[in-house]
Amino acid sequence: MNPLTGETFAQVLVNWQKQHGRQTLPWQHTGDAYKVWLSEVMLQQTQVRTVLAYYARFLQAYPTVSDLAAAPEQDVMQLWAGLGYYTRARNLHACAKQVVARFGGQFPRTVAELESLPGIGQSTAGAIASLAYGVQAPILDGNVKRVFCRYYGIEGYPEQTAIKKSLWDIAEANVPKEQPGVYNQALMDLGATCCMPRNPACSACPVMHTCVALRKGTVGLWPTPKPKKARPELHFISLLLEDARGALLLEPQTEKGVWQGLWAMPFKACSSQADLADLSRIATAWIEQFGLQALSTEIEQQLAGLPDQPWLVHELTHRKMHFKVLLVKVPGVWPGCHAVGDKPVPKIVHKLLDQVRVLAQGSVPQQNTLDLG
Ligand code: ADE
Repeated sequence: MNPLTGETFAQVLVNWQKQHGRQTLPWQHTGDAYKVWLSEVMLQQTQVRTVLAYYARFLQAYPTVSDLAAAPEQDVMQLWAGLGYYTRARNLHACAKQVVARFGGQFPRTVAELESLPGIGQSTAGAIASLAYGVQAPILDGNVKRVFCRYYGIEGYPEQTAIKKSLWDIAEANVPKEQPGVYNQALMDLGATCCMPRNPACSACPVMHTCVALRKGTVGLWPTPKPKKARPELHFISLLLEDARGALLLEPQTEKGVWQGLWAMPFKACSSQADLADLSRIATAWIEQFGLQALSTEIEQQLAGLPDQPWLVHELTHRKMHFKVLLVKVPGVWPGCHAVGDKPVPKIVHKLLDQVRVLAQGSVPQQNTLDLG
């Protein structure tokens, strides 16, 4: 209710729709449920501008739901090609067949019956029932969710069960008995022409004076975006084995994952609590694998200091990686060592090398080399 005029939200929107809403979309003012259904399915994930040409071609090819039901599936898919989300086209065809088989070629009038048809969810059912038949049924598509979240100040991601439930409650409470189709069209028009995702035109909005988001200055923050998944924190011990040429031991990364196809230093996952025993187990395997037995004393010395050394951190969009680094310098030319510039290596290799060289100049022993002759 607008306290200044005494009008309900729905009344304001219905009046606004008649003056400022879209009136000339080809599926409007037809009273034909087939046309409304066809447009609503096309508009589920596609913009009006794109839908217009497809809608016209479909109606020309299939003027009635019976024509569509009788068409070969391939022809329907062909006509849909380019609109995307092809499940919609398969459902469209299946739905047409059911309307003919179950309802004698007439789209049913109730939300429950409409929802029982393929490709028709609650919001599409509400749109068809209200726009084609004047049934008092709510809609709640992505645009309407945005309008409600802002106008009523609903915080939280709208696809969350509890938030969605609140939004459906609001949708149901608002839909008027009189002209529910005009009201629902108004909601869609408002979302498309005033309450847009970015740069909304609040000064043109008919309900701006009672909008919670506008009053609080949070229009740009609502609806609350999808919560980002927590980034996993991964811990590794890595071996930077450098030979006398400054070449680094690098292994091709054949495992599926972010580094597949690149080359990287040997590294092994470990616990964030990794103690000396854990780190030694890994290092011992490396000593064997890479023939570093002659350096084992130096390696053990360095290992002893590792638990107290800070983790070196590498942040990626989807993960945060923490490294302990074992820096081993070997004399001469070592098998498996490559100039870093000669191989495709992930950024982390350069980063760890740089960081560890800085560290090595400080606390840890300068050299870890042994003259093997
Ligand atoms: N988006 C979904 N349904 C619509 C309709 N009937 N008019 C305009 N845009 C829409």
